[in-house]
Amino acid sequence: MIASAARNGFRASITGIGAYVPERVLTNDELARMVNTSDEWIVERTGIRERRIAAPEQALSDLCRPAAEQALEQAGVDPAWIDLLIVATVTPDMSFPSTAAILADQLGASDAGAYDLSAGCTGFMYALAQAYGMLAGGLAHRALVLGGDVLSKILDWEDRRTCVLFGDGAGAVVLEAVDAGGFLAFELGADGSGGPQLYMPAGGSRAPATAETVASGQHFAQMNGREVFKFATRVLVSSAESVLAECGRTIEDVDVYVPHQANVRIIDHAVRKLGIPEDRVVVNVDRYGNTSSGSIPLALADAQAEGRLQKGRLVLMTGMGAGLTWGSALMEWTAG
Ligand code: ACO
Repeated sequence: MIASAARNGFRASITGIGAYVPERVLTNDELARMVNTSDEWIVERTGIRERRIAAPEQALSDLCRPAAEQALEQAGVDPAWIDLLIVATVTPDMSFPSTAAILADQLGASDAGAYDLSAGCTGFMYALAQAYGMLAGGLAHRALVLGGDVLSKILDWEDRRTCVLFGDGAGAVVLEAVDAGGFLAFELGADGSGGPQLYMPAGGSRAPATAETVASGQHFAQMNGREVFKFATRVLVSSAESVLAECGRTIEDVDVYVPHQANVRIIDHAVRKLGIPEDRVVVNVDRYGNTSSGSIPLALADAQAEGRLQKGRLVLMTGMGAGLTWGSALMEWTAG
């Protein structure tokens, strides 16, 4: 699916950003004492040096709340003015009620339609597109969009192939109508035939929780790393190219490139293939690992803290993940 804001003429933009990561830092050296791995292997294959891990009592809404409060404050928006709240995640507090409904109550966003959205690590991109569409269609006026995951709670900490890759974190943005600039286009896609490459087999209606599913590790995330690597390198490039072409722009026009933070090698591959200068790329996977739905909003928050999100700059974001799914957004930054 590809959609261009230029065609319908409606303009909306990000007017506030917030982010939160748990305090606990887990280094590669610590991991090497838990499983048969090493700092050298992890850095060379992934670029990850450390990640944040939620405390046992911390659930997703506990990470989302401070991120949401920051974003609202930056936008100068009262929670009561929010009429749409979406949380993109694969690790909600519980299956139901939605984390979005829990969060709306905590924040005092009593006027908001609130729901969770599941699109793997691409969730935040899907949620941005959906919030834009709701604003453009007149169904909502101010949206709070979150992406966050607590993947540490669904990892097998004895499986070195997965536990070294991920971390916990959440980010939030406020979306509002603007006069000019803002979102220019979105591209979203899904290839369900790749689902088994990255999945959690049990806990849903296909394989409800039983003593056997627990004992056989089916409640942990499972991944075919090589296949996901091939998929990721392909779609990061093709999705970015599609969204740029839709707007009649080229990669030379992009000032800030925010790719999903899964692995430095995947990012490096996309940067080479797209031909974008390295100083325009946002990378924080070394500090946070792959935070799934949290990855792109956390990277946006870092880019803003570094002064890289200036008014008028062209920002390209591309996510990819479980589904298998992918999604890009191209926007002209409007806030100072
Ligand atoms: N430490 C040491 N050795 C390891 C580790 C580890 N943590 N993990 C795997 N190995 C070993 C393997 O067992 C294998 O050993 P063998 O040759 O004796 O069998 C060897 O290292 C090479 O394994 P590969 O899987 O071929 O290693 P590769 O270079 O492909 O790197 C990695 C693995 C990092 C997982 C890579 O495939 C990758 O990044 N894939 C994409 C993962 C990803 O991005 N997932 C998320 C995307 S979507 C989302 O964000 C949810």
